[in-house]
Amino acid sequence: MAILVTGGAGYIGSHTVSELTAHGEDVIVLDNLQKGHRQAINNVVFYHGDIRDPQVTDRIFSENRIDAVVHFAADSLVGESVADPLKYYDNNVITAQRLLTQMNKHHVKKIVFSSTAAVYGEPVNIPIKETDRTLPTNPYGETKLAIEKMLHYCDRAYGIKYIALRYFNAAGAHPYGTIGEDHHPESHLIPIILQAALGQRGEIAIYGNDYPTPDGTCIRDYIHVMDLAQAHRLALQRLKNTEESDVYNLGNGKGFSVFEVVKKARAITGHAIPASIVARRPGDPAVLVASSEKARTLLGWTPHYHELDEIIASAWKWHKANPGGFGN
Ligand code: UFG
Repeated sequence: MAILVTGGAGYIGSHTVSELTAHGEDVIVLDNLQKGHRQAINNVVFYHGDIRDPQVTDRIFSENRIDAVVHFAADSLVGESVADPLKYYDNNVITAQRLLTQMNKHHVKKIVFSSTAAVYGEPVNIPIKETDRTLPTNPYGETKLAIEKMLHYCDRAYGIKYIALRYFNAAGAHPYGTIGEDHHPESHLIPIILQAALGQRGEIAIYGNDYPTPDGTCIRDYIHVMDLAQAHRLALQRLKNTEESDVYNLGNGKGFSVFEVVKKARAITGHAIPASIVARRPGDPAVLVASSEKARTLLGWTPHYHELDEIIASAWKWHKANPGGFGN
C-alpha cells in the first residue's frame, strides 16, 4: 500500500517524502511544481499535475493502491492571503474539498493534514495548547482552520480519519545537505538572514521593535523540518494503529526573538548580516510558542534538533552549498 503526498516537492513535503522513503514506505508524489522542485524528490512515483483536477486524482487513486494521504499542497503566505483572499479559498479550501471527494470515492480513509499555528491568531496563553481558542487573524489561517473543520465533518459523515499538524516556524534542512528551503520570493526570516550572509541581499528588514517582548521584536518557536517530517510519519502510524482523528501542535516549546535569531546567525555564519528596523508586518502576533506535549505523549514524537543554533547551522549548510537553491 502506498502513501500519496500532495505538494511532496515543496519544502516540508520533500523532507517528509525523504523521511517516509527512508523508513521503507512506498510513496507517490503529486505536485504541480509551481513552488515545488522536481530535484527535491527521488526514488518515488511522481505525478506532475493539478490536485484540483479530479481527472488527475481519479487516475492516481485508480492506478495505485493508496492507503493514506499526506496533504501539503497549499498556498502559505500570510501577507499574500490578506492581499488576495480568494486565491487562498480557491487553492486551499476548494483543493482540499476536491481531494476529500476523491478520497471518499476511492475509499481512502486516512489523511495527515498540514495545518499551522496561524489558526490560533493572537494567542491567549503561552505556550499555546491545542485546546486553546482558534481565531485566525488572516485568510491563510482561516482557510487552514476551515479545512480542519471540513476534515472533522468528513470523519463523522464518511469515516475519513485525519490528523492535523499545526506547525510553528519550520526551518533547517536535511542533514545530508541534499534538500532544503527554496522559495521564490523568500519571505521567511531564517532563509532571508542567510541570503544576507551570502551577500545576496544588502541587509535584512526587521519588522518592528515595538512589540511587548523583552527586546521589542517578535518571538517565534523554530522547529526543524526533519522533526516535522518525523511527526508526519508518526501521525500516519497513529492513524493506522488507533484510527483516532486529532490535532497536534508541532514546535520546540522555546521562543526566540528576531534579534536573537539574527545574533545567532551572525555567530554561526561569521558574517555581519546588516539589519534595519522597519514597520511591523500586518498580522504578526507578538509571541507564538507551542506546547507540543500532546505530540510527544500520543505520537511518541521526539524532536532531535532542540537548539536554534543547530537549526540555523543546518539551514546554513544547505544555503552555502546551494546559493541558487535547486536552480543552483
Ligand atoms: N521577519 C522579519 N523580517 C523578515 C521576515 C520575517 O522581521 O524579513 C519576522 C516576522 O515579522 C516574524 C518572524 O520574523 O516575527 C518570523 O517570520 P516568518 O515569515 O519567518 O514566519 P511567520 O512567523 O510569519 O510564519 C510562520 C509560517 C506561516 C504561519 C505562521 C503562523 O511561515 O505559514 O508562522 O503565524 F502561518
